[in-house]
Amino acid sequence: VHIALHLPRQVPPAVLALLFAAVPPAPAAGPTAPVHPVWSEVAPGVWKATVGTAEDLTLLGAAGAAPALDRLATLPRAPFPFAPGEVEARTLAWKTALRLPLGETEDIYGLGVDFGTVRRNGQVFELHVDHWNRRAPTPGRTHAPVPLYVSSRGFAVLFDTARYLKVSVGHGVRLAAPRKPPVVDRTTRTIRPEDPSAPAVPAPWVSALRSDSIEVLANAPGFAVYVFAGPSPLDALRRYNLFCGGGALPPKWGLGFMTRLPTRATAAEVLADVAEFRRHRLPLDMVGLEPGWMSHAYPCSLEWDATRFPDPRGFLAALEREGLRANLWFNPYVGPPHGALRRRLEPFAGSHLVWNGAVPDFTLPAARALFQEHLRTAVLAPLPAAVGGFKIDEVDGYDRYLWPETATFPSGHHAEQLRQTYGLLVQRLVLDVFRAADRRTFGQVRGTNAGAAPLPFVLYNDNYDFTEYLTAVVNSGFAGVLWSPEVRGSDQPQDMLRRVQAVAFSPLALYNGWASPQRLWSHPQVLDAIRSVLLLRLQLLPYLYHTFAQYRYDGVPVIRPLPLVVGAAAAAAATEAGAPLDATANPYEAPAALKEIRDQYLLGDSLLVAPLAPNESARSVVLPPGRWYDFHTGAFVGEDTTVRVSPPTDRVPLFVRDGALIPRLAGERERAPARDERPVLEVWHYGEKPGSLRLYDDDGETFAHERGERGWTDLAVARAADGTWRGTATPVAGTRPWSYREVRWIFTLPSP
Ligand code: GAL
Repeated sequence: VHIALHLPRQVPPAVLALLFAAVPPAPAAGPTAPVHPVWSEVAPGVWKATVGTAEDLTLLGAAGAAPALDRLATLPRAPFPFAPGEVEARTLAWKTALRLPLGETEDIYGLGVDFGTVRRNGQVFELHVDHWNRRAPTPGRTHAPVPLYVSSRGFAVLFDTARYLKVSVGHGVRLAAPRKPPVVDRTTRTIRPEDPSAPAVPAPWVSALRSDSIEVLANAPGFAVYVFAGPSPLDALRRYNLFCGGGALPPKWGLGFMTRLPTRATAAEVLADVAEFRRHRLPLDMVGLEPGWMSHAYPCSLEWDATRFPDPRGFLAALEREGLRANLWFNPYVGPPHGALRRRLEPFAGSHLVWNGAVPDFTLPAARALFQEHLRTAVLAPLPAAVGGFKIDEVDGYDRYLWPETATFPSGHHAEQLRQTYGLLVQRLVLDVFRAADRRTFGQVRGTNAGAAPLPFVLYNDNYDFTEYLTAVVNSGFAGVLWSPEVRGSDQPQDMLRRVQAVAFSPLALYNGWASPQRLWSHPQVLDAIRSVLLLRLQLLPYLYHTFAQYRYDGVPVIRPLPLVVGAAAAAAATEAGAPLDATANPYEAPAALKEIRDQYLLGDSLLVAPLAPNESARSVVLPPGRWYDFHTGAFVGEDTTVRVSPPTDRVPLFVRDGALIPRLAGERERAPARDERPVLEVWHYGEKPGSLRLYDDDGETFAHERGERGWTDLAVARAADGTWRGTATPVAGTRPWSYREVRWIFTLPSP
């Protein structure tokens, strides 16, 4: 504490002594000495340390994370990544600081779904659940500010606090740092030697000096830190996802197409829209109703509106006959004041209203139970199986829309803690309603946080920038969450098409027509191209479903940013050398091509997706190591290179690894297969290498897979003695569920 005293020049010593006796005693000399956290292995390859005093409400706790210990045990072993004493913690008054080492060639990814960058080095983040805003001065206020970082050295670190955090990634050089950046004179752009007779050495002057640390400050008296071992960054992420319980496995119909209707659509208008989808032969599995399905919205009554939906059961039954599921929008701010739900929830609500609605304190089991009971009895009751999920809106921000930081909640939790966990709490209570009925759900949410991997909800937001949406998709792979670059209306046919092409290769293929006069068929000149990419999405369902099963059971992210696929080896080799600080080159740089790829990613093991932006007809694609083939033609594209592609308008640039098997549904279809269907499986083989795939399957709708009702089939393609390709499908012994009638093989390269 520094106290400025204005004293006359000559003060008698006795007066001085008196004066200082009146000043409150300064805290013990300077900041408290750092302590080194004590780590213990809490699951295979996962270490935990508690710094300061941890609080009862944590992110993993709010998410209901339950480590998948049996699956964690299947991962390769790797040592604890830090040297003894390398991590330091300090507790300040109501704040906790932590410092972790950052290597000179180490790249940092993660820290939530950001829209601007992928690599985090040199940046400062304020991790705070919010509706992302491009004008925010500091990044980190986002829909998923997951406080998890992934290191190119092959580990990941989670700060499990439900408080706001500030994270400096390699920013802020310490006076005590053993190795500091070179001191360059900005005027002359030289390093001035101590000996004035020696010549000055030319060197670039940089404004943002890179430090040797990652520094974290949380508004918390303490929190748990988890370290997830590799050996590769992908393994570390897998460990994190499995520690959360494994990734979400949507129902098969969730991987089809979703459309959302204008907010005031009536039951008849919704059904007419569905008929248009059929007339245009466009795929459709889910129909999203916006606030207008409710009798009162903002605040939300969470009751069917009697004018627009006079017969909810009849309406839902009509959807069911079409093989469709409804998805219902809500935000959890309950009103109007005379509404039945509001009256019951008020004793469990926070001190402030949001959108004039009561804010249930969902950290209280009683509030959760009341809300769940209402969903069951008032919302789902007309025909439970026809409602596939919810769109949970407004659980992110902006500040001016939500409760103030001074708000109080009956549980005693602070406004900040509720803000950081609200999206998690609502997702979980919705999931539990479906789980209790043994039906899977797939929905949308606008705010989430760490621990969310098992929660079957996909993020979205209100901005509509194509480039940023693609970056968000890429970053979602580092954060254990799912993101959809939703399509809304567009005046420009090309814009509409490019957006549909991008969303078709994302976790949720979604048209959000809540406020647009346009529909998918508004531009006849691109309708065929839109249909063809959406039909392809449906055909790829077995591949997509398998990819989600890998997320569920092996923790492998659905979206794999390039540094996860190719960065590890390159970065590890560079780190070991311990490259000396070099004044002319930035020693923290990663290989340029891998560093910052924001617009392409792997979807699953074998498919490289590189969508064209609305204004593009050609683009560059960085091919990861190995030989790559064109998905559409099977032709060889390149190896260890960057290619320039300009496909026909109706084709998304998609590339397949050498030897990959891509399982697809045969023929064209507009709906995901129902539980009792037995479609024909087509397995496409690409390239010249033999291929194999242990394909996952289950009933696609219930939680029976968690009770052991799941199966795998070994698919293999190899050349026979005469040089022709042959494919075999062999069920894995002891496993059963398999929903295909027959397997057909497609070899994209002709036999010699
Ligand atoms: C917004 C949401 C939109 C739409 C709208 C309905 O907050 O992001 O997608 O649902 O509410 O009022």
